[in-house]
Amino acid sequence: MAPRKIIIDTDPGQDDAVAILLALASPEEIEVLGITAVAGNVPLELTAKNARIVCELADHTHIPVYAGCDRPLNRELVTAEHVHGKTGLDGPVLPDPQMPLVDGHAVDFIIETLRVHESGTVTLCPLGPLTNIATAFQKAPDIVDRVQEIVLMGGAYFEVGNITPAAEFNIYVDPEAAEVVFNSGAHIVVMPLDVTHDALVTQQRNEAFRALNSKVGHAVAEMTDFFERFDKEKYGSEGAPLHDPCVTAYLIRPDLFSGRHINVQIETQSELTMGMTVADWWRVTKHPPNAMFMGEVDAEGFFALLTERLARL
Ligand code: BDR
Ligand code: CA
Repeated sequence: MAPRKIIIDTDPGQDDAVAILLALASPEEIEVLGITAVAGNVPLELTAKNARIVCELADHTHIPVYAGCDRPLNRELVTAEHVHGKTGLDGPVLPDPQMPLVDGHAVDFIIETLRVHESGTVTLCPLGPLTNIATAFQKAPDIVDRVQEIVLMGGAYFEVGNITPAAEFNIYVDPEAAEVVFNSGAHIVVMPLDVTHDALVTQQRNEAFRALNSKVGHAVAEMTDFFERFDKEKYGSEGAPLHDPCVTAYLIRPDLFSGRHINVQIETQSELTMGMTVADWWRVTKHPPNAMFMGEVDAEGFFALLTERLARL
């Protein structure tokens, strides 16, 4: 089967970086048409830089990287340096990128790419706030029906929130954008915290990355070392949750994940629960399903896949 064509929309972020590396290491299943940066974990200037650092780490300097929206649709940007460090990619020491950003706005790249490819053949993979995707849908509503699928990391049901008691970071940062995307009618697959909090980099898994004994293996081990300090302290968990790589792993091995096709609405009014993904997991409303909301991951299978693929870079 031909590889799936995707655009990765991202705010790297150590876990975004691993998600990108997994995609670049998997050309049989995934063709990365481009990477679009958005403001999120750190401001846009840094996410656009970090996306190129990751491409260069993987020796994939031909991937076009575009800068996109530098703030949410109608809010101030909230960032997460407390998790990802000042650069967004703290941990390994990686060189500044030599590859330039491609001229033009990420949103226009998303629109043009969906228009030039056959309808239903391009998948969007958002790993950060949904600002770029929502802006593209608002600017060019004709592209929505052309999207094959949106596979995104965001939201939570049983795990509720990580940036507030009620909300997950990516959705919280731009709830209005999330509302546009979830109400767009596009086919959506969601990797919420319910899944990603089971994808933990234990010490053994971290050592497996390091044992690859490659530039990429060392960098991923150092990134997850950095990232896990915060999570261990906060959740008392065994290691850092690899949120965003669940998205790219799904494209390769969808059988590793299971969930429910349900209705998901986004809270945009209440300050208390802003950005909450109100997921009708128990189907208590008659609202039609708008998302495949994942609930479980085979963590052993996920890390086996990730380690095997990173070894190829
Ligand atoms: C999400 O927020 C970011 O900090 C991570 O990169 C991930 O996309 C997890 O809530
Ligand atoms: Ca992210």
